[in-house]
Amino acid sequence: MARRTATAPRPDASVPPARPAGASADAASRIAAWQRRAGRHGLPWQHTRDPYRIWLSEIMLQQTQAATVVPYYERFLALFPTVVDLADAPQDAVLRAWAGLGYYARARNLHRCAQALRDGHGGRFPATAAELARLPGIGPSTAAAIAAFAYGERAPILDGNVRRVLARYFAVEGDPAAARTAQRLWDHARALLDAAPAGLDMAAYTQGQMDLGATICTRTRPDCARCPLAPDCQARIQGRQDELPAPRTRRAQPLRHCWMLIAECEGRVLLERRPDAGLWGGLWTLPQFESAEALAAARDALPAGEAPQALAAFDHVFTHFRLRIQPCRLRLAGAAPAPDGADRAWAPLAQLDAYGMPAPVARLLAGLYADTPPPR
Ligand code: ADE
Repeated sequence: MARRTATAPRPDASVPPARPAGASADAASRIAAWQRRAGRHGLPWQHTRDPYRIWLSEIMLQQTQAATVVPYYERFLALFPTVVDLADAPQDAVLRAWAGLGYYARARNLHRCAQALRDGHGGRFPATAAELARLPGIGPSTAAAIAAFAYGERAPILDGNVRRVLARYFAVEGDPAAARTAQRLWDHARALLDAAPAGLDMAAYTQGQMDLGATICTRTRPDCARCPLAPDCQARIQGRQDELPAPRTRRAQPLRHCWMLIAECEGRVLLERRPDAGLWGGLWTLPQFESAEALAAARDALPAGEAPQALAAFDHVFTHFRLRIQPCRLRLAGAAPAPDGADRAWAPLAQLDAYGMPAPVARLLAGLYADTPPPR
């Protein structure tokens, strides 16, 4: 049992209260009004209530900035105009359209979600955040954003940007990604909405929180003079914008190594498709090895050719580690041996775009073969 102190600690006027006063009743309305006046209005996923388009954008916007997402979003819609078109497409085509956006589990879940909607929901999106959150790849904040934009549901969101806005507005201590802090932020997000009037414009409010986080309440230079929450923002009142939210407690990133074989033969390069589960799952990459010896053994199993050439090593950063990639180029003589299995292919150098590849591998090969004419 916790030990009780004989007397309650006396409040110290110089220390801000741990739980600041709740949100004012008009905070949500101020955000919505600010969004209509000064928020972003030209993003291609705005001004639609089509849940397919909204869902697609929200999945792409997880961990990726709007400017990067725009061309992918437009290409995706041209390739897969409806959720059933997406469900019916081969996974390879979906990964190819996604290649370069990173975090490929999102693309695999997107495809699985489209198939779940086709097979279990008649190709239609469910109409509530609670039901949306049961689909693959749709977490509570994404579900709420879709429901708010498509159906006007009064559902609170809490993505990375909104965490920062609320951590400052309510002066919430602690790493916003830690479970306890995240729970407090969710409570505040709900309270903010509960305090708002019945007619709140949910699309403007939801977009407004995102826009505030992206354009005003930025991590390093919050522009409080233009912020609709400034009058009662606890971080601003306490002069603690630089301290809140608390910086994430990051572990040191381990460095891993891998060796990649660039085997060329008759204007083609050998590619392998990664298993669905795990890093770069389902994407085409160069044959990859955990040691120089393993690469040498694979090289020896191929037909003879010129001497292997080590290219400059480079690093690729994943969420939890950094991968140092050592490419080794090998030009084979004679005809390309038949690939063993459907997950290996001799890809024509001029048609590498047809393979969904992780960005660092695509860049490496583009650097070597960008001007290669198609094979005759
Ligand atoms: N990030 C997540 N959702 C977004 C949206 N709808 N607009 C801009 N950025 C976003």
